[in-house]
Amino acid sequence: MFKNLSVFALFFAALIVAGCGGGSEQADMAAPAQEEAAAEAASGVVVIEANDQLQFSVNEFTVAAGEEVTVTLVNVGTLPKETFGHNLVILTAGSDLEAFATEAMGNAGNEYLPTDMSNVLAHTALLGPDEEDTITFTAPTEPGQYEFLCTFPGHYGTMRGVMIVE
Ligand code: CO
Repeated sequence: MFKNLSVFALFFAALIVAGCGGGSEQADMAAPAQEEAAAEAASGVVVIEANDQLQFSVNEFTVAAGEEVTVTLVNVGTLPKETFGHNLVILTAGSDLEAFATEAMGNAGNEYLPTDMSNVLAHTALLGPDEEDTITFTAPTEPGQYEFLCTFPGHYGTMRGVMIVE
């Protein structure tokens, strides 16, 4: 009887410890989750620089599904728009980036955007030195990875990245 009671007491004590542990763990998890939500809201605003070295300053950013996203592209380069312009084009999920870039680069008359825009989620204007463009769009409701690129001929090899929708 005493033994059983002792076992019961240990079991009960273990439950309390587990309960407390779980409680504090929940409390620990709640705080970062709130911070993360704030960071995600802040990440709805993204500033990306494009330069003469064929680089975007940001190659990956995260947004919340369905939220309003504001992306500003700033061309910090010095080379002329006609020979070294930059834009930022975000593609729909599952788009073939290489195929898209190949079609787009042949369309100089339309700022290197293809005639068929069905794979374009959002895009900036083509920018020359010291120019910038801000676009606002609603993030897809479908979580996933959405690739972006500069469609100026020869740029997409390095000027590309991913918008992650969570
Ligand atoms: Co470019």
